[in-house]
Amino acid sequence: MAELLRESPVRLAPMASFTNAPFRSVAVACGSGFTTNEEIDAEALLAGNPWAAESARTDLDPGVVAMQLLGSSAETLVPAALRVVEAGADIVDINMGCPVPKIVHRGKGAALMRDVTATGRILTAIRRAIDVPLTIKIRGGWDDSQPNAVEVARMAQDVGVDAITVHPRTRSQRYGGRAPWDVIAEVVAAVDIPVTGNGDVTSLAEAMAMMAATGCQSVMVGRGALGRPWVFDPAYEALSPEGRAAYETRAIAGHLDLIEGYFPPREALLQMKKQLAQYGAGRAGARGLRAELFGQASIPALRATWARQEAEVLTGIEVAAG
Ligand SMILES: Cc1cc2nc3c(=O)[nH]c(=O)nc-3n(C[C@H](O)[C@H](O)[C@H](O)COP(=O)(O)O)c2cc1C
Repeated sequence: MAELLRESPVRLAPMASFTNAPFRSVAVACGSGFTTNEEIDAEALLAGNPWAAESARTDLDPGVVAMQLLGSSAETLVPAALRVVEAGADIVDINMGCPVPKIVHRGKGAALMRDVTATGRILTAIRRAIDVPLTIKIRGGWDDSQPNAVEVARMAQDVGVDAITVHPRTRSQRYGGRAPWDVIAEVVAAVDIPVTGNGDVTSLAEAMAMMAATGCQSVMVGRGALGRPWVFDPAYEALSPEGRAAYETRAIAGHLDLIEGYFPPREALLQMKKQLAQYGAGRAGARGLRAELFGQASIPALRATWARQEAEVLTGIEVAAG
């Protein structure tokens, strides 16, 4: 696991409804290290929910892939872990950071940070059941009165977890304020297993800065990669505006084709809208563009809307270049 993390110093973070197989594939093509899928609810997977089963597919993943599970007990997480390993997961990751109320109210996600002993029993059971690396993704703690990332990390190391990702905000901080990177450094100092840092990184330079500041072995990039999978490619940064525009056009076109080939038509249309809205987010007139994208009723109409947007960007670059 340590070597794998050394080979994957900067990689895509899991993000529900975005880091499905097509996006993971694009991110890896742009230079991301191994990726983690969006969270899969263990109960839903075991109940045969088609969306959960689709999320567990690994057939588009070009290399190593971690499958992340959400759950509150060994009774569901152990069989679900075995199921995703059977489906091709190279690593099983347990979500201990999701702050969404409907998740934590069911004892899942960040709720696993609360009772460290009980969570230790769950992780022990999963560790015994699977023979691929087991990792966890944690927060700084449940809330500011319980900043227990170090305690949780030590417990995880003791029960045989192979690596830890730390998003240092507590559950109650959700995504507000600056991520307190010093919490990552505290976890690094407390355990011998590899630690991946995460939070507010939007460039390779910032990823290097996080590693230097905290001692973490690798970095996960979340929101900074939405609509910007080229964040993982050092070559992109060196390109001219025309070169960047051409790179983006190629990456987005490849992404759209992957989505269309992977999902059933209705889901593909929605997924294309979501991803295109992210690609368009930094551009002039982003709000109007988003509304226009979400107003399209078919994939050809959506592609035509996007093609017009691409043409406008290219014209803008030509005008700026004189
Ligand atoms: C839309 C969205 C969905 C997310 N879904 C997940 C998830 O499924 N599993 C997970 O561990 N974290 C999830 N996260 C948290 C991210 O992995 C990451 O920890 C967080 O965004 C902070 O990193 P960043 O500042 O680089 O975005 C999600 C975040 C966002 C914005």
